[in-house]
Amino acid sequence: MCGIVGYIGDKQAQNILVDGLKRLEYRGYDSSGVAVLDNNQIEIAKKKGKIKDLEGVLVNNEINGTIGIGHTRWATHGEPSDRNAHPHFSMDEKIAIVHNGIIENYNELREELKSEGYKFNSDTDTEVIVHLVEKYYDGDLLKAVNRATKDLVGSYSIGAISSDEPDRLIAARYSSPLVIGIGEGENFIASDIPAVLEHTKNYYILEDHELAEITKNDIKIYNQDLEPVEREITHVTWDAKDAQKDGYPFFMLKEINEQPRALQDAIRGRIKENGDIKLDDVVITKEDLDKIDHIQIVACGTAYNAGLIGKKYIEKYARIPIEIETASEYRYKNPIVTENTLLIVLSQSGETADTLAAIDIAKKNGARVLAITNVIGSSIARQSNDVIYTNAGPEIAVASTKAYVTQVACMMLVALHLGRLKGLVSDEKLKKLTTELKQASDHIQKALDDSEELEEYVTANKDHEDLYLIGRGHDYNTAIEGSLKIKEISYVHSESFSAGELKHGPIALIEDGTIVLAVATQEDVLEKVMSNIEEVRTRGGKVFLVTQEKFKDRIADLDKMDKVFFLPDMDDDIAPLASVVYLQLFAYFLAVANGRNVDQPRNLAKAVTVE
Ligand code: M6R
Repeated sequence: MCGIVGYIGDKQAQNILVDGLKRLEYRGYDSSGVAVLDNNQIEIAKKKGKIKDLEGVLVNNEINGTIGIGHTRWATHGEPSDRNAHPHFSMDEKIAIVHNGIIENYNELREELKSEGYKFNSDTDTEVIVHLVEKYYDGDLLKAVNRATKDLVGSYSIGAISSDEPDRLIAARYSSPLVIGIGEGENFIASDIPAVLEHTKNYYILEDHELAEITKNDIKIYNQDLEPVEREITHVTWDAKDAQKDGYPFFMLKEINEQPRALQDAIRGRIKENGDIKLDDVVITKEDLDKIDHIQIVACGTAYNAGLIGKKYIEKYARIPIEIETASEYRYKNPIVTENTLLIVLSQSGETADTLAAIDIAKKNGARVLAITNVIGSSIARQSNDVIYTNAGPEIAVASTKAYVTQVACMMLVALHLGRLKGLVSDEKLKKLTTELKQASDHIQKALDDSEELEEYVTANKDHEDLYLIGRGHDYNTAIEGSLKIKEISYVHSESFSAGELKHGPIALIEDGTIVLAVATQEDVLEKVMSNIEEVRTRGGKVFLVTQEKFKDRIADLDKMDKVFFLPDMDDDIAPLASVVYLQLFAYFLAVANGRNVDQPRNLAKAVTVE
């Protein structure tokens, strides 16, 4: 849950590291630091707070040198403070390291090292690593890091430099992501690609238990026995601009506005002229499918919410029974998973620890795993049998938006693909849905065009302490996602209910002036939701409604709603792709009106790579 970056080349390292850290700030933002090596001496600057606080330290204290490592922290062990910030020094100040992950046996190692005379300057689990490296160091940093990792239990990606070896940077990884950016006369390490996208589009992805020895002109990858490993270059087509705010005040708003484009990228090349679905990296045949007796969908947070809609799509179009579970529950419930199970996992980052653990369990039991993820070469992509990339482009804001919409679109493609394999989706239905899927970007655009009006409404209602969201069918799932967005970035208490459940309890919460956000885009339950809305209104609740134009004449007392937004007419199964945008924008404007740091909400980090 931290970000690491490293540089070796001919340029001054400090600014490259700080720039990289800014792009990784979504992974952790309670403290940061850099270590730069010059004249056979390492200098470290670190500071509690945001990267701009570190810049404040560096402004009058520039560190020269062309090799260095940097870190932005999301505290797990030890409060956010200058002393707990990374990099950490060995006692002789000749070795510096940065670390992302958690060392589970750090207490035991710390006691052992203390008894051997090592002094600790922080409360972090990480500091044991640098002392272990120092302990095993005999002039070869690669060997010392490798030896140290053998003592570690837990997860790590590590960047290390030594003043005795000023021409090399060492990296190691287990269970925490690390990429190596390949430059010309310079090379990089980073927790993820956007951090160094400005410098290169070519990467090696380090695998678990691997180490890398990086000089300015060469990169060597080794396994844990220090035998050389061949690795293919991963080339990304992302533009460096994708990882910048591009004039928007927050990444989240930029990413919300990118959704029409992201959706097109998610479906591009996957719908054939005749409407058929083509999923290149999904090689499930009719025979494979015949063996599958059930599907499990597993994910966390927003990705889980996308899975909820995907479950309905697959059940409807492929008629396969589905269980859905959050990964943190799945991994500990002794799931019934066999070689006849298809596990579908969704993950923006492709690095979520709980989701990875679920894959591991499923694979050990012989299940086939299909991943829907945004990050090429991520751990989840590599560990799955079939992969669909969402192609949303880098998502930087902690609150997931375009990843969600593209995940839902990919789930629709999977459902139609499986339905076709089973002969359950007619040519006509397939053509209609795929045509509508292509048009969904225009419907999202309608929601974006309503931004100003929405902002006005939300700003006027920014002081409400509780917000409730209701819907039925797909709209209930959309309400769940909207509620998560509101909570995580505005810190306003919000809850989502299936509208039909209101009378079973939650309606007791409605009083004069309570705002209820209702989503009503589903024809088959429209009248039912309208009755639920009426129940809310008669108890003094104020209703914010998102519906489709085609239902206008079927909604009584439209003028009595507090606010109504109409989406253009579309197939009800496509509606979740567009209706959610109103809720994303609602959450965004509420957070802005309440002065929140939208992109970096308190206590949260983008990639949850620890349990
Ligand atoms: O990278 P993943 O999609 O696996 O991440 C899963 C969740 O941590 C993530 O969706 C989280 O809920 C977001 N903050 C939601 O906006």
